[in-house]
Amino acid sequence: MPLTDRWILLCFALIPIVTCQYQYHPNYAYSAPLVGASSRPDLSYVFSYPFNLYRTPGGEPWCPSASPNQPPLFQCKPAIRCSPWFIELLYNPWWCTAADGSFGACCPDVYKTTSSVARFPESSKLTAMPRDITKEEMTRAVTVARQHVEEISAFEWHAWSNMLAPWQNSAAYSYSATTYASLIGQQQGWKGLQSVEASRKLASLLKLEPEYAGFALQHLCVRETALSSICREQPKCNASALYRTYDASCNNLDYPNWGRSNSPLERILPPQYADGIWAPREWPGLPPVDSVSRIVQDIDYPDNQLTITVMHWGQMVAHDVTHVPTFRTLNNSAIQCCTGDGKYLSPERTHPLCFPIDVAHNNEFYGQFGVTCHDFVRSVIAPREDCKFGYADQLNQNTAYLDASVIYGSTEKVARSLREYVGGRMRVTIIGGDYVVLPVDPNRKDCITDEYGSECFVGGDQRVNQYTGLTVLHIVWLRLHNKYANQLSVINPLWDDERLYQETKKIITALFQHITYNEYLPSVLGPNLMEEYGLLPLTSGYTYTYDPAVKAQITNEFATAAFRYGHSLIRNYNELWLDDTYANYGGELHLKDWYNNPKVLFDPIVFNALIRHFITGTAQNFDENVVDAVHNYLFKSPYQSWGLDLIAANLWRGRDHAIPGYNFYLEACGSKRAATFDDLLPIMRPAIVEKIKYLYKSVDDVDLFIGVLGEWAIKGGIVGPVTSCIMADQFARLKDGDRFFYEHGGQPHSFTPAQLDAIRSMSLARVLCETSDTVDWMTHNVFWTPSPMNPWVPCYGKDIPRLNLNLWKSTY
Ligand code: HEM
Repeated sequence: MPLTDRWILLCFALIPIVTCQYQYHPNYAYSAPLVGASSRPDLSYVFSYPFNLYRTPGGEPWCPSASPNQPPLFQCKPAIRCSPWFIELLYNPWWCTAADGSFGACCPDVYKTTSSVARFPESSKLTAMPRDITKEEMTRAVTVARQHVEEISAFEWHAWSNMLAPWQNSAAYSYSATTYASLIGQQQGWKGLQSVEASRKLASLLKLEPEYAGFALQHLCVRETALSSICREQPKCNASALYRTYDASCNNLDYPNWGRSNSPLERILPPQYADGIWAPREWPGLPPVDSVSRIVQDIDYPDNQLTITVMHWGQMVAHDVTHVPTFRTLNNSAIQCCTGDGKYLSPERTHPLCFPIDVAHNNEFYGQFGVTCHDFVRSVIAPREDCKFGYADQLNQNTAYLDASVIYGSTEKVARSLREYVGGRMRVTIIGGDYVVLPVDPNRKDCITDEYGSECFVGGDQRVNQYTGLTVLHIVWLRLHNKYANQLSVINPLWDDERLYQETKKIITALFQHITYNEYLPSVLGPNLMEEYGLLPLTSGYTYTYDPAVKAQITNEFATAAFRYGHSLIRNYNELWLDDTYANYGGELHLKDWYNNPKVLFDPIVFNALIRHFITGTAQNFDENVVDAVHNYLFKSPYQSWGLDLIAANLWRGRDHAIPGYNFYLEACGSKRAATFDDLLPIMRPAIVEKIKYLYKSVDDVDLFIGVLGEWAIKGGIVGPVTSCIMADQFARLKDGDRFFYEHGGQPHSFTPAQLDAIRSMSLARVLCETSDTVDWMTHNVFWTPSPMNPWVPCYGKDIPRLNLNLWKSTY
């Protein structure tokens, strides 16, 4: 039995419950080795703060009183406010009793942050046009582009009777539901396609080499051609608006389309399209992604310090900030690229926007089923933001900002459809009188069906049903919204539905951001990098780092590779603990059996048991091992013996988006580019270097995603140097480029200092306490496994602070 489980049992079985919260107090000396300590690098020299200096003469930890002359100030704080230093506190436990009498920890004050975005070299290398282009040539290019789209339409008409859409209960169908393009996304995609086809024609007219084509054409403006209608207009903004818009337009008043839903992803480095415009990154010497994917082992290797919440929260964050859909047919049907039993379709039946993944006959898993083809459709592209010709950029149909759009929706239409329009609340389904879940949409047909029913939930993000653990978090936030809206309506009886909805949404969004920057990110990036990039929440006061020149767009590298690091944390199954004694085990919920099937969540016992799993279930270690639930069984339906391969899909998506190799990002992040594979050894695990050496011809070709999986962890974090560099840049953009970021001061919509302080006292533990039905015990920090530094405390006590909504009492 793992040590963490022993702690829990000891606490619940042997010690009267009232003493549980005290048993980890420093007076109860604790000297057992930390669980999983050996799985982390030696941290003794890592932290710049003098944690170990402050000891009583007897060697006991001691929190010095504040001294204005000696920053950084160390203060005893409620433990959650020390969350960024949790890893250090695990190794050097430093408890204290906070001023309010709650369980506290000693950590430095953060009194200043500096913005650290835009460290990368200029991503565009604008090259000169070899000659001017005539009006006739331009007209011809545009005509050809339009013809191309018409040809696709004609193909669909002619081939349709022979072309099958994926069968509803197949992996391909669930996959298409995950990458579903909304109507606006689809419209933008067809516009993007026209712009790209015209660019291809112009490149061939001017005989531009692929290396330069995508850049040189940026001298030409689409707006001056017959395609001008594809350019996105700037919305008119109300600079004094107190709330975010639904689609995030006008967050940036200088560039109102930045971060807006249905706009293109940003790039750190220019793409490497084979034709310079949109042909995938494919050339001789690049190994098939299927063989690169087989580097990944299906080994169960738990991280004993981080809980599965790190995985779940990561997925919520991912779904908040990015959703790149894939093309659908012009009549809005999913595109099937392989036969139902995993074979290639004949060329005349293969849709031009298909990009199926080749699976080797001797693949050790798929070989046994004779599968040689995996469904894969190309990502939707958007007209370029500058409305120029040039290379393709992929479309993000969600808002880029970390604005809780995963709960509320990324367009006005979706957001409005989720509102109840009474008391500021969101729509819900109530089962059995008091069990509250997401609204059910009988018209939504993308869930796996079986004899028990086929209801699908709806939420702010299309992927809400992908996996039960994810759906639980959607329900949690929906419940919290309605709970707070109800409480605010009592505190402010004069507020109407709109004000209640907007104020509650503003609070929920602030909590979503605070939990991400205070609890989640430090567990992945470590406190030092957080500090370096100005990502640590302040102890008190406002940040003034909002900068309208910071582009809060999601980078393609973040969405396509770096933030997919989380796929390595996924575990095969969730454990169901039926009550807070953790003695009644209700069995397991295997991921591969529950894709796109939220049926079990119609039972409150499962919902609450999954929340208990968040607190005690461990994440998988971040490394090149990925569980077979996603490696071999992604979206497996009850009617199939195999599923798709998420690792191959990630690699293939990287090539679809023409993301340059890992080596180029090494350089962009400030290191020397590797000249040989062996040069990678200081940053990548030797076993990975050995394997990629045999697969790739050139070190420049190594796909970014496999590099992400193979890197040694940075000190204090779990991801490697390139991954953390891409991630930290992204989260710095999402902070300093977001006018509505919860900590920013000096804005008409800024929180009051007292409200901000209240938000800073909040934690995911409190959110789960507030929204579960039968879970009454929680750890302080649910991102970390229970331990002396992360003790069990009751939800009803004061150790996990509540949000004081009275601070939102208003006189008008
Ligand atoms: C059960 C858990 C998960 C499943 C089944 C899953 C599955 C998927 C799938 C099928 C895709 C689309 C692949 C493609 O065609 O490109 C995807 C994309 C992605 N995933 Fe996951 N994922 C999971 C967890 C996570 C976690 C924990 C993270 C991060 C911490 C994450 C981050 C991402 C990101 C950033 C994308 C790209 C999204 C976009 O831009 O559209 N995923 N995932």
